[in-house]
Amino acid sequence: MVSVQENLISRRSIYRFENTPVQRDCLERAFEAARHAPCHKQTHPWRFYVLGKQARARIVDVVENLSREKSMRLGEIDVEKMVEKARSKILAPPRLIAVTTVRTIGDSVRDEEDYAATVCALHNMVLSLWDQGIGCQWSTGSITRDPAVYSMLEVQESEQRVIGFLKVGYPAVIPEREKKAMDGIRFYLD
Ligand SMILES: Cc1cc2nc3c(=O)[nH]c(=O)nc-3n(C[C@H](O)[C@H](O)[C@H](O)COP(=O)(O)O)c2cc1C
Repeated sequence: MVSVQENLISRRSIYRFENTPVQRDCLERAFEAARHAPCHKQTHPWRFYVLGKQARARIVDVVENLSREKSMRLGEIDVEKMVEKARSKILAPPRLIAVTTVRTIGDSVRDEEDYAATVCALHNMVLSLWDQGIGCQWSTGSITRDPAVYSMLEVQESEQRVIGFLKVGYPAVIPEREKKAMDGIRFYLD
């Protein structure tokens, strides 16, 4: 186990995973970290849906349709190759988790604060997994807005918003990332 600071600094988004399964107790430890995230007014607006085989198969259908539509719109030559790539993005990670935030329609302040809180919870989870040697990639895009995804998760768009999918697994490769220098991000004002 490394220091908190080392854990924060060493974490990277992971795009290629080993086939090794991620056990449920590792996820449970991460959800425990997630549920201790800060939230204003004690709203606890985060929800996590761990997608099993059948749920993933349903998501793949949605992704396939989106990818085919997009490839045709962009005039891709090899549409099927693009579709296969999109399918593998959903099927390849050892675990796939949909993350939603509870909505408060008509209260934009609450909505924004709850989104911020859910991001904190999501990142608590990512960091807890990283501490266990497990990597994640947060994935957004049109899939988070497709009505078919909401109906697959059995959530109402008026009640919860899908903020992304977390792909989870043991890293096959840890990419390097250049980060913005300290001088460009922090300013001490007199
Ligand atoms: C709100 C948010 C959405 C993201 N969506 C995607 C995505 O759709 N696809 C992707 O490959 N990476 C996505 N990422 C990961 C970022 O690309 C990644 O965090 C960034 O490149 C910095 O790398 P690092 O996480 O290793 O520090 C997302 C990250 C955030 C915070």
